[in-house]
Amino acid sequence: MTLASSLKRLLTGQKPSRDGGPTSRPWPGLVEQYRPWLPVGDGTPVVTLLEGNTPLLRAPALEKRVGRGVQVFLKVDGLNPTGSFKDRGMTMAISKAKEAGATAVICASTGNTSAAAAAYARRGGLRAFAVIPDGYVAKGKLAQALLYGAEVLAIQGNFDQALAITQKLAERYPVTLVNSINPYRLQGQKTAAFEVVQALGDAPDWLCIPMGNAGNISAYWMGFQEYRNAGLSKMLPVMCGFQASGSAPLVLGHPVDNPTTVATAIRIGNPANGEKALAVRKESGGRFASVSDGEILAAYQVLATEEGVFCEPASAASVAGMFKYATEIPSEARVVCVLTGNGLKDPTTALDANHANLHRNLAPEAEAVVQVMGL
Ligand code: F0G
Repeated sequence: MTLASSLKRLLTGQKPSRDGGPTSRPWPGLVEQYRPWLPVGDGTPVVTLLEGNTPLLRAPALEKRVGRGVQVFLKVDGLNPTGSFKDRGMTMAISKAKEAGATAVICASTGNTSAAAAAYARRGGLRAFAVIPDGYVAKGKLAQALLYGAEVLAIQGNFDQALAITQKLAERYPVTLVNSINPYRLQGQKTAAFEVVQALGDAPDWLCIPMGNAGNISAYWMGFQEYRNAGLSKMLPVMCGFQASGSAPLVLGHPVDNPTTVATAIRIGNPANGEKALAVRKESGGRFASVSDGEILAAYQVLATEEGVFCEPASAASVAGMFKYATEIPSEARVVCVLTGNGLKDPTTALDANHANLHRNLAPEAEAVVQVMGL
């Protein structure tokens, strides 16, 4: 290896491969990867866990169900470092909070935001506070927030009330709000749209996405627009947002006081980014619809048993929604369903939905086991 090539590898982060040839550059995290597109400067201390660069996975079993040559892709964002798309927003929000001199951050959360905020805040040396609806945060998420070192404040109320509290506290005390009303969150999250365009060579025809506080749909739209305006893609997708039927303020057109759904991540009655999301629907010629808990759980199960993809229930709302519109999707169109969170976040729902496949109390003998196998 010459000095010049060693130096180049050092500068570009390239590692020599086993046969001595160059390998591709290791993923540097999304702030470094998309630096020109993000509001960061030389002085921004980048707090990263190398989030982003998640798979866009073809889904043949879903394609068979939709038919007519429609191509379905899953953006598997549950493969981010803390298991959800929130990491994309949090690398930005925490880096910018740190740059501004903050020493503590706060969020309201149905679970994933608190896990991501805690991980990034602690990595950056900041305190993390999370206000959550007591009893309505999936076990894996609560476990993460606690282990990462968040101070978790569980209220006898729902997410909307938690968000109102955190907004008040952030106004009065030296804690930075890192919910999706923090504009840096959406800046980070828009990079998922960049990755989708890079993987497909253009934007998809349709994008299906779950909506809770409605930040992510707004972030994707921003990303698709920025790439299109820069000439990096030709088209813009029809943006389809889905809510659980017991928590569907954007479908109903008014806030819901007591939101309910098995998909606790999107158990939100008064989305902070509601106006933005409605503008996305209008500008993209998009659609919003609600999906029942039964439809969500059916899609959740199909994803796992037919595609080998374990997402959390809220994420499956995007696929349940795509099924709902199956006849309206143009033939041969490309559809991306965003899978926002990892299934391991919510083991309780997975176990509750699958008791029938768990055969217990078997004698520790081959005959007893084979009898149940039915071979
Ligand atoms: N999917 C998952 C897995 C989520 O955790 C969330 C939001 C959404 C979808 C909806 O995204 O709010 O941008 O429309 N979770 C937030 C939280 C509210 O606190 O973790 P959105």
